[in-house]
Amino acid sequence: MALLGVNIDHVATLRQARGVDYPDPIIAAKMAQDCGADQITCHLREDRRHIQDSDLPRLQAALTIPMNLEMAATDEMAAIAMKLKPHKITLVPERREELTTEGGLDVVTHQKVLAPVIARLLQTDMILSLFIDPDLKQIATSQELGIQALEFHTGTYCNASGSKQASELKRLAEACRHAKSEGMFVAVGHGLNYQNILAVTPISEIAEYNIGHSIVAHAVLVGWERAVREMKSLVA
Ligand code: PXP
Repeated sequence: MALLGVNIDHVATLRQARGVDYPDPIIAAKMAQDCGADQITCHLREDRRHIQDSDLPRLQAALTIPMNLEMAATDEMAAIAMKLKPHKITLVPERREELTTEGGLDVVTHQKVLAPVIARLLQTDMILSLFIDPDLKQIATSQELGIQALEFHTGTYCNASGSKQASELKRLAEACRHAKSEGMFVAVGHGLNYQNILAVTPISEIAEYNIGHSIVAHAVLVGWERAVREMKSLVA
């Protein structure tokens, strides 16, 4: 049975859009926890466009399920993570102008730059995961860096259609199979919704799904609790 990590970033996006204090992403996280979420995921972006620094300790204190903090591989973020000590950290690429996280962390190109921060974070008790494209070279380089947990970026699969989508799904399945056979923990995320996830869940090597935008969007129409429960029933 796979785990569902509910990403609460876009609850905070709604709050930040007006600069008010509602909706509170921590309340959403607690409700998601009560509705069967196995983990809460959030991304502290360098520009703080949704989750704020002050949300993190409140979230940490409110949860009984694990917290997965997504962040850029910078000294600033590493210091925040080492102080907070969430259950898991997922290193993601970040460019300020992008709408969302476009593409995985390119560990092949940036291996030298990433190595020191990864080495530092691996010395802690936190699980360290890398958000990479489903690519065998990226997996091999992650292993060289000492990584044992990966999250594959599903955005290319989600944005494609027809035969391109079928080939992206095949690429994802192969990456999941290979990583699992190497003894790695396999998570996936980005762009997954209530429809496109149906072709992904047969990939039995996937242990965890991190999903945010589609749950928040569905919640606008059907309510947060139902939106979380419906997604949970699809990944279970
Ligand atoms: N996983 C990672 C590593 C991400 O960066 C994101 C987007 O912040 C997600 C999962 C969730 O993506 P979405 O909001 O499209 O479901």
